[in-house]
Amino acid sequence: MQLFIVSVLTVLLALIFPSAMPEVVRAFTKCREFFYKEQPPVIPGILDSRSLENNYKEICQKYRNVYRFATFYDTANRIPVFSAYKYTKSLLILRPSKNFFIETDLDKCNYFNIRERVNRGHLFPCSYAPDKLTAESTFTLTNIVPQKISFNSGSWNRMENEIIETMNKYCYDDNDNNRVLAYMLTGAIPGDTKLNERVNIPSYMWMAFCCYSRTGNSWVSQAYWAQNVGEDINKGKTISKKSLQDLQEFLSQTWKKKVTLFNNNCTKKRTTH
Ligand SMILES: *[C@@H]1O[C@H](CO)[C@@H](O)[C@H](O)[C@H]1NC(C)=O
Repeated sequence: MQLFIVSVLTVLLALIFPSAMPEVVRAFTKCREFFYKEQPPVIPGILDSRSLENNYKEICQKYRNVYRFATFYDTANRIPVFSAYKYTKSLLILRPSKNFFIETDLDKCNYFNIRERVNRGHLFPCSYAPDKLTAESTFTLTNIVPQKISFNSGSWNRMENEIIETMNKYCYDDNDNNRVLAYMLTGAIPGDTKLNERVNIPSYMWMAFCCYSRTGNSWVSQAYWAQNVGEDINKGKTISKKSLQDLQEFLSQTWKKKVTLFNNNCTKKRTTH
């Protein structure tokens, strides 16, 4: 009986003072560590503190009992909107490259569809993983979009390698200047075509990082995006660097909402501890 009264009171209080309600526990709460300042991106009405009932899913990517990264998934288009992860320099002895992955898994990497000329594009690239198990965890379908084969192995791959070089050089943990660390987001924008009448083939793919630069003693960011189209592999197409603000504006046009990828636009100056 007492419990009943307490429950009724709680509900009444919640109705009278909606702000007194405890915050709804959201899926991303369990894996906030993968977001800069533990704050997921904001897409008003789609990904914010209220939007729970929609076509999107917050996924904490658990593999072998450990959270490895986070994915915001579009259940209507059956592709991820983005994956969020931390880049720390690879602890693997082998140089990170597409081929460091154990042989039996390469088949999965090379899956492709001839008619659409697409293969599996990882949002959290397996070559960015700090260890073997995290690398394995990137092979989940919720982290994969159909990507044009020549784009995936061409300009997009060169860009991924270029970003790694930049991050290894500048991006350090603000609490431990000897540790490489960057907060990353890779995403896809749904396109007009589908693979096997099921899975959306994205029109664009994008990537951004936010990290503390020990040389500049400040937080820095960089962004990239490119159309998911086939390219002439002999032409060595490159994807140009953009600012985080440019990318946010580009995404805001697509979503018709004001998109925030990193809290405070990743501009917070370092505060002394
Ligand atoms: C962040 O960048 C966007 C442009 O993408 C801008 O409209 C907004 O005012 C910026 N917000 C802050 C807090 O600097």
